Amino acid sequence: MVGVVGLGTMGAGIAEVFARAGLRVIGVEADPEALARGRGHLERSTGRAVDRGKLTGGERDEILGRITLTTSRDDLRDADLVVEAIPEILDYKVSLLEDLDRICKPETVLATNTSSLSVTAVAAATGRPGRVIGLHFFNPAPVMRLVEVVGTVVTEPSVVAGITELSVRLGKTPVTVGDRAGFVVNRLLLPYLNQAAVLLDLGLAGRDEIDAAMRLGVGLPMGPFALLDLIGLDTAYEIMGVLFDETRDRRHAPAPVLRELVTAGLLGRKTGRGFHGDETAPREPEQVAGVTFGVAGDDPSSIAEALTKAGFAGSDDPDVLLRFSDRPVVEHAVRLRRPSSLVGVHLVGDRVAELAATVLTSPEAARAAAGLMTAIGRTPVPCKDRAGFVVDALLYPYLNDAVRMYDSGYASIADIDAAMRLGCGYPAGPFEMLESLGLARVRDGLRALYAEHREPAYAPAPLLDHLVTAGMTALPRP
Ligand SMILES: NC(=O)c1ccc[n+]([C@@H]2O[C@H](COP(=O)([O-])OP(=O)(O)OC[C@H]3O[C@@H](n4cnc5c(N)ncnc54)[C@H](O)[C@@H]3O)[C@@H](O)[C@H]2O)c1
Repeated sequence: MVGVVGLGTMGAGIAEVFARAGLRVIGVEADPEALARGRGHLERSTGRAVDRGKLTGGERDEILGRITLTTSRDDLRDADLVVEAIPEILDYKVSLLEDLDRICKPETVLATNTSSLSVTAVAAATGRPGRVIGLHFFNPAPVMRLVEVVGTVVTEPSVVAGITELSVRLGKTPVTVGDRAGFVVNRLLLPYLNQAAVLLDLGLAGRDEIDAAMRLGVGLPMGPFALLDLIGLDTAYEIMGVLFDETRDRRHAPAPVLRELVTAGLLGRKTGRGFHGDETAPREPEQVAGVTFGVAGDDPSSIAEALTKAGFAGSDDPDVLLRFSDRPVVEHAVRLRRPSSLVGVHLVGDRVAELAATVLTSPEAARAAAGLMTAIGRTPVPCKDRAGFVVDALLYPYLNDAVRMYDSGYASIADIDAAMRLGCGYPAGPFEMLESLGLARVRDGLRALYAEHREPAYAPAPLLDHLVTAGMTALPRP
C-alpha cells in the first residue's frame, strides 16, 4: 500500500501512477477543499485518458477505486511506502517527515518528490534516515517516463534497489543519482527557464517569440514560458532559490519577474494565469508586398533564392538588408551608408528566423524583415542585437552545464541524455544536441556569450574546450 501526501500538480498524478500499476493508494491532503481539488485532478486526468483511448471506462473506474482520499495523516499507518508531494519548502517537508516517522511502521520507506531540496536534510529529520529516499517524478506524472531515484550517503542500498525496481514496475525509466540540488533534470532545466525569464525582463524578445523560437526552432515540446506555467511559478521560484543557495551562481538567482508574478498570485496553469493566460487575438502578419531586399554574409539556406521565388526583388539599395553573421550586427551596420536598413538574421532549424534589430535599425526595416520571413514560411523572432540572440543564448549555456555536470562525475552521458529526453520530452539529450550542432560551434558561441556578459558560467567548460582543441567531434563514451 502506498501513501501520497499532497495531491496538487504532482501528487494527484503520482497517485494515479501507483493506482494504474495495481497498487492501493491513500491520498492525503491538507484540508477538505484541497482534497476536493485533488479528486478533481484525478478525475480529469483519467477522464482525458479515456477520451484519448488510453484507458477504457472500466479501467478508469478500477484505478479510481484503488485510491482512497483522506485529510488524516494517521490513515498512513499501514502504508509500505509514502511519497510526499507538498510544496517545495524545506520546513514544511521536515515537519511532515517528522510526523510520518511517528505515524508509519518502522519499515515503511519515506520518499520525497522534491525537485531540488536536500534529501539528506529531509532524511535527518527522521529516526530512519536509511529508509528515506528521493523519488522524483516529472510533470505530468502519468505521462513522463523518467523518475530520478535519489539516494543519500545514508540511504540503505536495499532501499535504493527496491525503489528502482518499483519504478520499473510502474512503467518508468529510473535514473539513480546522488543528492545534489536539482539532481540531473532540474539542475539543467530550471536555469534555462530562469534565463528565458531574464531575457524577457530585459526586453530581448517577446514572450510568444521566445516560446516559438524554442518550440519551432529547436523542437522542444513547449516554449519556456508555457513550461514554467505548467510547472507552477511558485514551484519554479522555490527551486531556483534552492539552486542559488547551493551554487551561488548568479544565473540561479530567481528572475525578478518570477517573484513579481508569484507575489501577484499568478502561478501558471494552477491559477489560470502566469506568463500566459492573458492572450489577445494574434497579431496579423505584416504585409510586405513590393519590399526590396539584399542579403549579406553567408546565406546558409538560400534565403535570397526563396525570397525571389516568393516574388520579392533583390536590390543593392534595398528597403531591407538581411545580414548573416556571427559578429554583433551593429558592427556591420556602422560601415553602411544606410545603417537603418540592416537586420541581423539567424536561421533556427527550418521554421524560425531570429531577426536582430540594432540600435540603428529603423522600425520599417525591422517590420519588413519580419514580413519577408513570414512570406517564405518562417516564424520571425524579432530580438535585440545581443550575443546568441535568443536561441543560442538559452541553449548553449544549458549544453555547457551538461558538460560540466558530466565532467564532475555526477552522472553519465547516457543518463543525462536519457533524463532530459524522458523527463522533459526533449527530442534529444544535451550531448546528442551538442554533437549535432557541432562542438566547435557551441564552444565558439559560448565564447561570444562570455565576451559579452563576462559571466563565468558562460565560459566554455574546460572539457568542451579541450575536445574542440583536440579536434574531436563527439564526446568519448565508454
Ligand atoms: N510542479 C512540477 O512540475 C513538479 C515536478 C516534479 C516535482 N515537483 C515537486 O513536487 C512537490 C509538489 O509540487 P507541486 O507543483 O505539486 O505543488 P502544488 O502546490 O501544486 O501542490 C502541493 C499540494 O500539497 C498540499 N499540501 C500542502 N501542505 C500539505 C500538508 N502538510 N499535507 C498534505 N497536503 C499538503 C497542497 O494543498 C497542494 O495541493 C514539490 O516538492 C515540487 O518541487 C513539482
